[in-house]
Amino acid sequence: MSFPNNFLWGGAIAANQCEGAYNEGGRGLANVDVIPHGPQRFDVAMGLREMLEFEDGYNYPAKEGIDFYHRYKEDIALFAQMGFKTLRLSIAWTRIFPHGDEEEPNEEGLKFYENVFKECHKYGIEPLVTITHFDMPIYLIKKYGGWKNRILIDFYKRLVTVLFTRYKGLVKYWLTFNEINDILFMPFMGAGLVFKDGEDQKQAKYQAVHNELVASSWATQIAHEIDPSMKIGCMLAAGSHYPYSCRPEDVFAAMEKDRESYMFIDVQARGYYPRYALKMFEREGIHIQITKEDENILKENTVDFISLSYYSSRCISTSENNKDGLGNMFAGTKNPYLKESQWGWAIDPLGLRITLNALYDRYQKPLFIVENGLGAKDEIEEDGTIQDDYRIDYLREHIKAMEQAINEDGVDLLGYTAWGCIDLVSASTGEMSKRYGFIYVDKDDQGNGTLERRKKKSFDWYKKVIESNGNDL
Ligand code: BG6
Repeated sequence: MSFPNNFLWGGAIAANQCEGAYNEGGRGLANVDVIPHGPQRFDVAMGLREMLEFEDGYNYPAKEGIDFYHRYKEDIALFAQMGFKTLRLSIAWTRIFPHGDEEEPNEEGLKFYENVFKECHKYGIEPLVTITHFDMPIYLIKKYGGWKNRILIDFYKRLVTVLFTRYKGLVKYWLTFNEINDILFMPFMGAGLVFKDGEDQKQAKYQAVHNELVASSWATQIAHEIDPSMKIGCMLAAGSHYPYSCRPEDVFAAMEKDRESYMFIDVQARGYYPRYALKMFEREGIHIQITKEDENILKENTVDFISLSYYSSRCISTSENNKDGLGNMFAGTKNPYLKESQWGWAIDPLGLRITLNALYDRYQKPLFIVENGLGAKDEIEEDGTIQDDYRIDYLREHIKAMEQAINEDGVDLLGYTAWGCIDLVSASTGEMSKRYGFIYVDKDDQGNGTLERRKKKSFDWYKKVIESNGNDL
């Protein structure tokens, strides 16, 4: 096993799933705050059930998260003990611009992240910052309709200008939108879209997609103007689609399914819409407002690197197979060759190698795995330990696969940040019991618990992995 000397090992978290303190420090209300835990969650996240403020009788896990807002020093110290070289975390837009359309930013919010980044640097940890990880001010949804309105591009430009100016010298790696392709599946979470009865959802989604893509390119341009050494990346919810069989129809369906997501990165990495996407818009009667300036901005500001999350591969069948195989928000067909997590996500380390190769072949830009991990239930033993060998097994096999992608296939990989390096609120279910961390957080699905942090067995294992630069797995 060998990894490049400067390989960026670390972990990943996001503001909406960790910070809590939803009404402190001058922060405004965000879409993610009002997505409840429980059966309504999917409908709200998908924009099918309008919930733009807190309603009685629901549990809103983002309100408190794991209280990272108040405990970040303790948490970063634990990450440093594991030897993290990098920490991926996100900015809550509402801390910087509580409504989103103000002229001036909120100093208290800016100061909070400045303190967090300085705390990281104290331990030699390089922050890797997602500008929007599923969150946006609720005010922008109520007043402007979220990302389907292109005025959001201007507000985003203002946000990134403030961030790049303020954190120049503190943050080098930035990601513009987390899992940008999730907008198609979770449009409220990804873009603040709420649909009215009879609204053309596809049209609204793809206009929002375009606005985000343009905003992302502007961010790249603005960053490079402010500090040419900044590196801007896009972020894809990745995982190649396998045809269920070698029937040509299945193979074609898998190709089309991959393209549904590749389209985003094709634009961000190549600077223009691929022809298959333009044909699809034509076929489906989707009319996107694209200006000449948009075209130029997209063309001139492609990303410096491509980041991805990978939890599982996906499988597609065109026959009437059961559609019960999940996998990171994308429903698909169950793959009979793979075991699954307790949440039904297929476990496929080789799929990671396949995905990395597909992306590197397609774009030839450096890749960065910014999410990977196993969501599982953990039990505390009588002696207080947590023996999460299942998590270690999952991570070990995926790390081996990425090592092979680097050394046997020649993929250029910048780093690896394990998702939810400390237990946090699950994005898809709102549960705490779907745990990914090396560090256990005492909190249950109903929000009860002391929030005490406790190292799991995987904590020392990951420390050893980093110490040995991936040699000792
Ligand atoms: C990704 C998201 O989709 O997967 C994270 O970027 C999310 O925010 C992660 O938490 C794992 O998904 P889940 O639903 O298990 O939390």
